[in-house]
Amino acid sequence: MLEIKNLNKSFKQNHVLKDISFKIEKGEIGVLLGKSGAGKTTLLRCINGLEEFDNGKIIIDDKINNNSKDILTLKGKIGMVFQNFNLFPHLSVIENIIEAPVNVFKETKKEALERSRELLDIVDLKDKEDFYPYELSGGQQQRVAIARACALMPKVLCFDEPTSALDKDTIKSIVNVMKKLKSQGITILIITHDIGFANEVADKLITISKGVVECVEEVS
Ligand SMILES: Nc1ncnc2c1ncn2[C@@H]1O[C@H](COP(=O)(O)OP(=O)(O)OP(=O)(O)O)[C@@H](O)[C@H]1O
Ligand SMILES: [Mg+2]
Repeated sequence: MLEIKNLNKSFKQNHVLKDISFKIEKGEIGVLLGKSGAGKTTLLRCINGLEEFDNGKIIIDDKINNNSKDILTLKGKIGMVFQNFNLFPHLSVIENIIEAPVNVFKETKKEALERSRELLDIVDLKDKEDFYPYELSGGQQQRVAIARACALMPKVLCFDEPTSALDKDTIKSIVNVMKKLKSQGITILIITHDIGFANEVADKLITISKGVVECVEEVS
């Protein structure tokens, strides 16, 4: 479960996020919509601790982040897939996925490899574990980035415009991956400008306009 309560964020005089509140339940997909400059990426960056915020609360299950100094309490609970995937170019697919579990979370290589292979199965890239990022298509790289984010077993997974560089068929495969993750109880928050994709995956549509939540709509 991800809940945002009265979150405010300014860059100097620019009040970018104004009293943002909404909630996405466990295993739900929430989609953030809104014009360019509305504050969507800034909100995602606040949620995953890349950006400090002025006041408000970010709650994941029973953990609360009331201000930027508490970020650590939520770290590891939130995964992020960036628009340009941010894969390590000099590491193979499987090495990209086990990097953080082994080096940051001190898992054994055997444990990390086991889960990475399960994740590669979920994202349908079982046969690509020894490939390097440059040997993969954009959609395949995107799916490696998803597997890598999931390797840290996040409760919440955030995506910033995951489909912007992908063709229709690849988007379909990403939709399937997201539905599988959701059925495993991961809460997902996605920024997109692609209304077709949004309607396909969303349980909840959250529209932000000039830093304000304009409407929250349940999708049946
Ligand atoms: N690091 C920063 N320093 C100062 N201002 C910033 C910074 N990051 C974002 N902003 C401002 O915050 C506002 C919201 O930007 P943001 O990137 O969140 O928009 P967005 O909704 O993601 O837009 P887009 O759909 O174009 O990606 C903009 O006015 C932008 O100039
Ligand atoms: Mg953005």
